[in-house]
Amino acid sequence: MKRILIAGIIAVLTIVTVESLNCTQCNSLNNTCNSSTASQCSNDTNSSCTSSMVNSTLGGNITLYEDKSCSAEECSEEEKVIAAFTVHVSDGMYFQFASQCCRGDDCNTKNASAPSLEDELGNTVCPACYGSNETSCSVKQRKCYKEERCVDIVANFSNGINSKTLVLKGCSNVNGSTCQFLSASNHEFGGITFQKFDCVDNFTTLTPTPPKSTQTTTPNMGSKISLTPLLLASLLLFKLLL
Ligand SMILES: *[C@@H]1O[C@H](CO)[C@@H](O)[C@H](O)[C@H]1NC(C)=O
Ligand SMILES: *[C@@H]1O[C@H](CO)[C@@H](O)[C@H](O)[C@H]1NC(C)=O
Ligand SMILES: *[C@@H]1O[C@H](CO)[C@@H](O)[C@H](O)[C@H]1NC(C)=O
Ligand SMILES: *[C@@H]1O[C@H](CO)[C@@H](O)[C@H](O)[C@H]1NC(C)=O
Ligand SMILES: *[C@@H]1O[C@H](CO)[C@@H](O)[C@H](O)[C@H]1NC(C)=O
Ligand SMILES: *[C@@H]1O[C@H](CO)[C@@H](O)[C@H](O)[C@H]1NC(C)=O
Ligand SMILES: *[C@@H]1O[C@H](CO)[C@@H](O)[C@H](O)[C@H]1NC(C)=O
Ligand SMILES: *[C@@H]1O[C@H](CO)[C@@H](O)[C@H](O)[C@H]1NC(C)=O
Ligand SMILES: *[C@@H]1O[C@H](CO)[C@@H](O)[C@H](O)[C@H]1NC(C)=O
Ligand SMILES: *[C@@H]1O[C@H](CO)[C@@H](O)[C@H](O)[C@H]1NC(C)=O
Ligand SMILES: *[C@@H]1O[C@H](CO)[C@@H](O)[C@H](O)[C@H]1NC(C)=O
Ligand SMILES: *[C@@H]1O[C@H](CO)[C@@H](O)[C@H](O)[C@H]1NC(C)=O
Repeated sequence: MKRILIAGIIAVLTIVTVESLNCTQCNSLNNTCNSSTASQCSNDTNSSCTSSMVNSTLGGNITLYEDKSCSAEECSEEEKVIAAFTVHVSDGMYFQFASQCCRGDDCNTKNASAPSLEDELGNTVCPACYGSNETSCSVKQRKCYKEERCVDIVANFSNGINSKTLVLKGCSNVNGSTCQFLSASNHEFGGITFQKFDCVDNFTTLTPTPPKSTQTTTPNMGSKISLTPLLLASLLLFKLLL
């Protein structure tokens, strides 16, 4: 009797571990994030569900980008904010990013969101600009809000075929642990990779780094038909640069 029970428990456990994860999978530029339902994750991305978003005015007045997907990364908590921050380049020019992961079926229905800011000015002044490379990122000074620090970011928007680079400097409310996490290595979130993520609390102590030449791939205008949502995202974000 006991043996049958144990065998039964083992069988149930086996079925549970074999069953694949289901996550909401969508990309806002594909117009499917509004009412998307969960679908099964592929067997190499069945560890967690993720939700990432960009809310930015750099590519025009407002640009929203949302990506929900399955991930191979383990999520250490039931629901975890992986990164959330806003970068201010100038008044009205900002880049907001948030990404979270979660465990369990269809746990990523919620949108990621960045924390709101107090808008009281502090004493920090940061070099601020954005562009497709270091050269086109022409620095102006930006006086930061109280809770902000200087950031120097290089982000790569890629769909695996085409990619686009964003060089972004300014004031950000990103916290120390997120800085450390994002600067450690290339982290990818729904097609956005942070290739560089430097945070400077006291800008006057910054020693100028030798300019790194950043390779940018120029999208071939003749292949516009094959543009996928991620590339479209980057094109929308950098409409002004194109
Ligand atoms: C989502 O739904 C709202 C209201 O129903 C609509 O205004 C918006 O365009 C939709 N967005 C997408 C991406 O379909
Ligand atoms: C995942 O979705 C598939 C169909 O898309 C369904 O057959 C399966 O039962 C779902 N799994 C779970 C654990 O909900
Ligand atoms: C889940 O992913 C692991 C590791 O990638 C794989 O070994 C396993 O077979 C996958 N499970 C299912 C049900 O796809
Ligand atoms: C995922 O499934 C495919 C085909 O079903 C199989 O070839 C591949 O080895 C599997 N990968 C893993 C990690 O289980
Ligand atoms: C985008 O960011 C702005 C400024 O922080 C905020 O007011 C707005 O609600 C955000 N939109 C979304 C959809 O998160
Ligand atoms: C931003 O909004 C203003 C006023 O609504 C408009 O005049 C301007 O053309 C818009 N800029 C872009 C890039 O959409
Ligand atoms: C830093 O921010 C992340 C998300 O943006 C949050 O999960 C984490 O708890 C914060 N860390 C500290 C020390 O406040
Ligand atoms: C997530 O954001 C999209 C687009 O901004 C919106 O249409 C949708 O209602 C939001 N979903 C939730 C659960 O807040
Ligand atoms: C940097 O970007 C500008 C504007 O997009 C472009 O004209 C220039 O050729 C780029 N420089 C390099 C080194 O890629
Ligand atoms: C910032 O750096 C300057 C020059 O190195 C130093 O005098 C000042 O005390 C520093 N401020 C803080 C808050 O660490
Ligand atoms: C951006 O990422 C993609 C995929 O990871 C890579 O192929 C491409 O070379 C990267 N682009 C740059 C400019 O580093
Ligand atoms: C867009 O959505 C459709 C329908 O869900 C899907 O077949 C297609 O693969 C999506 N395109 C991309 C590039 O994700």
